[in-house]
Amino acid sequence: MFKRSWFWDRLAKRYARMPIPDQASYETKLEKTRALLRPDSRVLEFGCGTGSTAILHAPHVALVHAIDYSPRMLEIAREKAGAAGVTNLTFAQATLAELDSPAGSWDVILGMSVLHLLPGRVQTLARVHHLLKPGGVFISSTICIGDASWPMRVLAPVFRALPLLPSISSLTLSQLKGEFERAGFKIEDCWRPGVNKAAFIVARK
Ligand SMILES: C[S@@+](CC[C@H](N)C(=O)[O-])C[C@H]1O[C@@H](n2cnc3c(N)ncnc32)[C@H](O)[C@@H]1O
Repeated sequence: MFKRSWFWDRLAKRYARMPIPDQASYETKLEKTRALLRPDSRVLEFGCGTGSTAILHAPHVALVHAIDYSPRMLEIAREKAGAAGVTNLTFAQATLAELDSPAGSWDVILGMSVLHLLPGRVQTLARVHHLLKPGGVFISSTICIGDASWPMRVLAPVFRALPLLPSISSLTLSQLKGEFERAGFKIEDCWRPGVNKAAFIVARK
C-alpha cells in the first residue's frame, strides 16, 4: 500500500525548485496577509509544503507552527528555515485533523494551495473554525477549478481517476464561499486575479 503522502514526497525536491507561477499575485497575497499579522500573533499553517510562506511571515509574529503530512516536504522546509535563521517557526508532520491543539488557540490559520486537495473540506473548515480564537482569521488560497477554462477543468476528473495523483476538487468559488459561511466564517476579503488562478480568501471567526 502506498503512503498517503507518496505523490508529495516524490515531488518535494522539484517543488522546492519550481518558480512561483505568478509572482505578482503571490506578493499581493503576502502583503494582504502581512496586514493581518501582529507581533503577538500565534499562527498555524497547514499543508505548508516546503515552508516558503511560513518563513516569510515568521519574522512578523510571535510564532508560526507549520504542519504537512509529507515528511520530504518538511525536511526541505526545516533546511530552508535553518538557512534563513528563523527561530520562531516549528514544523510537524500532521494533518489538521491529527494536530493536537486546544480549541481557540490560534490568531491566524493559513491554508495556502491546499483546500482543493483535501477530501473532507467541510470537516477541515469546521476544524479551522474550532482551532481559531474568536475574532481570529483563516487566510487561504484555493484553486476553484469548477470556474476555470475547460483545459484546466478536465484536469480534475483525470486526477481523481488516477489513484497515484492527488484528488482535485471540481468546486467553484461560489460553492467555496458558501462552505465558509456555513462553517461560521464571515468573508472579509475575496480576491481572485483570474478564473484560472487561486482565490485568496480572508475569513473571520
Ligand atoms: C500544492 S502544495 C502547497 C504547499 C504550500 N502551502 C504552498 O503554498 O506552496 C500542497 C501541500 O499540501 C500537502 N497536502 C496535500 N494533501 C494533504 C492532506 N490530505 N493532508 C495534509 N496535507 C496535505 C502536501 O503534502 C503539500 O505539501
